Amino acid sequence: QGPEIAVTVDASRTGARIDRNIFGQFAEHLGKGIYEGVWVGPNSPIPNTRGIRNDVVAALKALKVPNVRWPGGCFADEYHWRKGIGPAATRPATLNPNWGDVIEPNTFGTHEFLDFVDQIGAEAYLSVNVGSGTPAEAADWLEYLTAAQPTALAKERAANGRQAPYKIAILGIGNENWDCGGNMSAEYYLSQLRIYSRFVRNFNPAQQKTDRMLKVAVGPGGGEPRFAEWTETIMKSWKGRHWSWDHMDGLSLHNYTVVRFPASYKSVGFGEKEYAEILQATLEMDKLVTQHSAIMDKYDPEKKVTLAVDEWGAWYAQLPGTTPGFLAQQNSVRDAIIVALNINIFARHADRVRMANIAQMVNVLQAMVLTDGPTMVLTPTYHAFRMYVPFQNATFVPVAFDAGRYTHGSITLPRVDAIAARDASGTLWLSFTNVDPNAPAQVATTLTGITARSASGETLTGPAIDSVNTSESPNTVVPKPAAVTLEGNRLTLTLAPRSVTVIGVRP
Ligand code: AHR
Repeated sequence: QGPEIAVTVDASRTGARIDRNIFGQFAEHLGKGIYEGVWVGPNSPIPNTRGIRNDVVAALKALKVPNVRWPGGCFADEYHWRKGIGPAATRPATLNPNWGDVIEPNTFGTHEFLDFVDQIGAEAYLSVNVGSGTPAEAADWLEYLTAAQPTALAKERAANGRQAPYKIAILGIGNENWDCGGNMSAEYYLSQLRIYSRFVRNFNPAQQKTDRMLKVAVGPGGGEPRFAEWTETIMKSWKGRHWSWDHMDGLSLHNYTVVRFPASYKSVGFGEKEYAEILQATLEMDKLVTQHSAIMDKYDPEKKVTLAVDEWGAWYAQLPGTTPGFLAQQNSVRDAIIVALNINIFARHADRVRMANIAQMVNVLQAMVLTDGPTMVLTPTYHAFRMYVPFQNATFVPVAFDAGRYTHGSITLPRVDAIAARDASGTLWLSFTNVDPNAPAQVATTLTGITARSASGETLTGPAIDSVNTSESPNTVVPKPAAVTLEGNRLTLTLAPRSVTVIGVRP
């Protein structure tokens, strides 16, 4: 099991706040992400509230999801909001050309989405259509949603069942407009951003004063020179006035964990080589965040603009037998480790990364839950997110340790990862990840700056790197109490191979 890993944490040395919005989710009209995964309709035998499945809502509530990004993704730049309002029977069937060319029934539209986020206790993060829409269409959508005065659009909203204005906490101006959002150059997108950000506003000035709607501009999708130029172009134009019609409060970054596209690595039934390669790929996130943060620092040294990693997660080959374009994949112990490694990266960059959205919430890519008709399974990704809830809005505390190395073939990775944070009640939270799939790791943590009175926590692992939860065996990968010992200011525990552990140290 190798030499003991000595960790030191001085709880009095605090850093940036870990914004709870980094635990955001992404739910696109894609595959079974919305239809079946969230929406079953009010007449379904699957228990639901106004058409939204109760099991999924209950599961997501436990994650304290801060915000949900919707309706896309690539879907957003082909979405026309008017088709998704009004009586269900009158809504037109359209196509979803990005994702399997299936029929989009539009039965899940604006009101249904806002009902869903309300049911799970999250804020709404809407992406407006820049690619195939117009500023007028997007501005009308925002007036329909947020106007408090009796305008024609506000009256239409009321006639459709919602009298009070909605709150839209976050607004995305387009999605990947360098690709599926319209193949735009950075300069062309910037001119669109200037126009949209002027007209697509919160039409409820009272709310705008107290609760600013955050605007997120489309940012890079990788580290190549064209993406460095993209970040440069958008940031250069930012004036930092922070007026409500200013360009942006955030710049997005999209980065999937994939060895190469088209994604061909299996989500289950893989070996240690694929395990190590995928984890190596996921650690690229740190390089990308560092690279784009450095460009942002040139124009915004005070770090007012958020780097919003609003699409991230593992992208594997589609499961055999599933509909092409539906991006259905399994979710294993490896995915729980991916969650921990990425959240740890975001936490270390908490002064710049104040928002992130894992792709995607239900049934698509690295999902929280997988549904199959009436059954729902909580994935290892779900459990990792649940264990990390105490880190939401906690204050980052630096951790010093020598991680050692895990080596497989030509790949060598840090063997252990760790972060710490202190919450409002003074509890110190520690997260340890043992990347090594074969050997346990002995960790001894010396705590200063806190009088530790008790420590307890949970650990998540499974019998193999590719262990998954299924409806027949839903508890193969579930958190178990961690065997932690606290003696004075010394905390010791053994990390199981391929595991994520979160410990709370109470003062
Ligand atoms: O999450 C799937 C797709 O990945 C999104 O629609 C798009 O934005 C990205 O390329």
